[in-house]
Amino acid sequence: MSATVNCEIILLSLTSVSSFSDILAKSDVKPLTTAKVARWIIPPTVLSVDALTQTEWDLVLCSPLPVSIPDECRPFIQRSWSATFAAPAELVSSYTSIFTSLASNIPARTKHMDQVTGSDEGTSLSTESMHVPIELRNWMTTFSDTNNHPPVIMLNLMAFKDVQKYGGYREALSRGVGKRHGLKPLLFGQVTKCSSITLEGGPEWDLVGLIYYPSVLHFADMLADEEYQEIRRKYRLGLAVAEILASEHGYHVIIGSRNAEAGQQAAASICKERHSASSVQLDLNSESSINAAIQTIEQEFGFLDILVNNAAVFSDVIPWIDRPTLGAYELFSTTFATNVVGTAVLTEGLLPLLRKGQAKPGRIVFVTGRLASMAYAIEDKKRFPDWKAYSASKAAVNMLTLRYAEQLEDDGIKVNAVDPGLVDTDLSGHIEGAYPPEIGAISTVRMATLGEDGATATFTDRDGPLPW
Ligand SMILES: NC(=O)c1ccc[n+]([C@@H]2O[C@H](COP(=O)([O-])OP(=O)(O)OC[C@H]3O[C@@H](n4cnc5c(N)ncnc54)[C@H](OP(=O)(O)O)[C@@H]3O)[C@@H](O)[C@H]2O)c1
Repeated sequence: MSATVNCEIILLSLTSVSSFSDILAKSDVKPLTTAKVARWIIPPTVLSVDALTQTEWDLVLCSPLPVSIPDECRPFIQRSWSATFAAPAELVSSYTSIFTSLASNIPARTKHMDQVTGSDEGTSLSTESMHVPIELRNWMTTFSDTNNHPPVIMLNLMAFKDVQKYGGYREALSRGVGKRHGLKPLLFGQVTKCSSITLEGGPEWDLVGLIYYPSVLHFADMLADEEYQEIRRKYRLGLAVAEILASEHGYHVIIGSRNAEAGQQAAASICKERHSASSVQLDLNSESSINAAIQTIEQEFGFLDILVNNAAVFSDVIPWIDRPTLGAYELFSTTFATNVVGTAVLTEGLLPLLRKGQAKPGRIVFVTGRLASMAYAIEDKKRFPDWKAYSASKAAVNMLTLRYAEQLEDDGIKVNAVDPGLVDTDLSGHIEGAYPPEIGAISTVRMATLGEDGATATFTDRDGPLPW
């Protein structure tokens, strides 16, 4: 195991930034980084929400432990928040030289962002496809090539159940597309202590990272880059479930996808790893597409062992996702058309093929979520008042689960609803604190691979039963 150095990251709210900084500069304390806080890119919405967002932070300091802030500085501190993390020793020792070399060697901008903001006519990219709040987009576009735009360091706080499994997304970013836009992970490490603690007393966050970008505009270019969009698309829950069922359980997976080409690509990516997959065009909003997909499966295979009902839309207003607000009629009708009507019609049409399934028992999984739960809605009062259409549609799917479980009991087909948890996908707006898709896939895969003695008519997440 490589050596680590315990470091601390401290956020400070100050009565006088200049007085604090002057005294610190004259002292013996030499942090690796002292930076002015500009803003949240994605504010925390699940963990440490009050602790981090109720205060306007002025400075962020990062230093190996112990960090002894001079006594003369202390009167200027109004609030602080900190996390201690174990950083690779080599990154700590080379931090200053790497930072200096990066700052003196700035790659040219690719100007992808300019396509979104309209400097270049006729591109298909939109702010919506970037999935950034309009207010953040507007902030980024206030920088221009003529403005002074110094390097930025982004503080990333991440929380996962299984830190080891996280990495694909980060790796993919920091290599190709990130590198092209000047991204450089400066320092990162597992959190050992933190101002925000869990009920069990442990730190709320698992990983802390400091990521360098040559400027805000380089970061914006990366967000607008097609390759970055591609990486985001790749990290989808449905694909993770399909990959695991093909690779770890040996199933031939049929991927239903609205966009036939995207479905073929997804199947090809599974086949590339020597597993078995194919695709079928499927739009849950179209009866003819549903019927055609069922017919294709019948003709090509003649049976179906497992049905995973994963597709859904979440079109209610989500504050951190920038997209047009739908009128009430459109919102409710499109949400129910996809999440409930399309899902039920597909399931209904596939029953004869499921009854002919070869790997017993047959299994149907409905991917719903905590928002489907009446019990949580009563318990969590006032938490999600705006998410009526999605929540109601998923509650309806929970009821479909129970009804199909009843109907198919004599056929021995297990029918269960699952909550994947908060997952880092487009649907959740890649919200901080979300789990990577392969973790989100756990509950679905578990119910999709139940044995003869497995449960039916249950609602679970990866930790166990949930209240209906
Ligand atoms: N992400 C979370 O935190 C979370 C939490 C709880 C539950 N869930 C549930 O997990 C499931 C997967 O969500 P996700 O997070 O992976 O969301 P996502 O990235 O938005 O993926 C949703 C998928 O549904 C497909 N879809 C939407 N409308 C469709 C239609 N009319 N016909 C066919 N396919 C359609 C999309 O197809 P395209 O590729 O064509 O867009 C996409 O592949 C959903 O049921 C969601 O409700 C997610």
